[in-house]
Amino acid sequence: MRLERVAAHIPAGARLADIGSDHGYLPVALLRRGAISAAVAGEVALTPFQAAQRSVRDNGLELQASVRLASGLAAIEPGDGITAVSICGMGGETIRDILDSGRAHLGGHERLVLQPNGGEQPLRQWLADNGYRIVAEEVLRENRFDYEIIVAERGEGQGYSPEQLYFGPLLMAERSPAFVFKWQRMLRQKQQALANFARAKAAVPVKKVEAFEREVCWINAVLG
Ligand SMILES: C[S@@+](CC[C@H](N)C(=O)[O-])C[C@H]1O[C@@H](n2cnc3c(N)ncnc32)[C@H](O)[C@@H]1O
Repeated sequence: MRLERVAAHIPAGARLADIGSDHGYLPVALLRRGAISAAVAGEVALTPFQAAQRSVRDNGLELQASVRLASGLAAIEPGDGITAVSICGMGGETIRDILDSGRAHLGGHERLVLQPNGGEQPLRQWLADNGYRIVAEEVLRENRFDYEIIVAERGEGQGYSPEQLYFGPLLMAERSPAFVFKWQRMLRQKQQALANFARAKAAVPVKKVEAFEREVCWINAVLG
């Protein structure tokens, strides 16, 4: 379901670069459906790189899909004409670092479809700092994990408040049942952590306690 929801944000006919593709499931599924016209599957590690090569070969997609052993956006070559980039199933900070160190490989017109596992706030901060506008967001729950999908395009620079960077500007406006469920759970976790901090024998840094208190305050406000 997670990758199906990611797939729904890839524009029809796109030339997709899927970075950290692992088995290459996303590009292979989209090519098999005729939903995209070409794909690059990038992998930094040898075993998943070979698994992606196998998926492409087994599905007879060698003409439409290139599998490349490369770190981050270095998998994208100038002649690829990439129109969408997906980076999924990694921490938000890792996705941010991949985008930041690979900026030279982006033309600026690509749609970014990102699915961070945590670290959404620093990722949104990077997008805002680099002239991206968040055009769609989703939160979904699968196998007892909450996942977020962030879709961004270059556009009119938009300033986001600290709360919008934390919750997601579109998610906090929509307040879907999955969003409310996620943040009710997060609230319980943060309150528990604060109680543990208060009982801890070694002093917890004041800044850390203040950050948790601020987040509890924001969550209470967003849940109303
Ligand atoms: C947990 S898997 C996610 C696979 C798939 N994208 C998904 O969402 O199901 C993360 C993959 O990213 C790859 N990866 C991590 N850092 C990378 C980087 N800098 N460049 C390319 N691939 C990377 C790992 O080798 C691993 O196969």
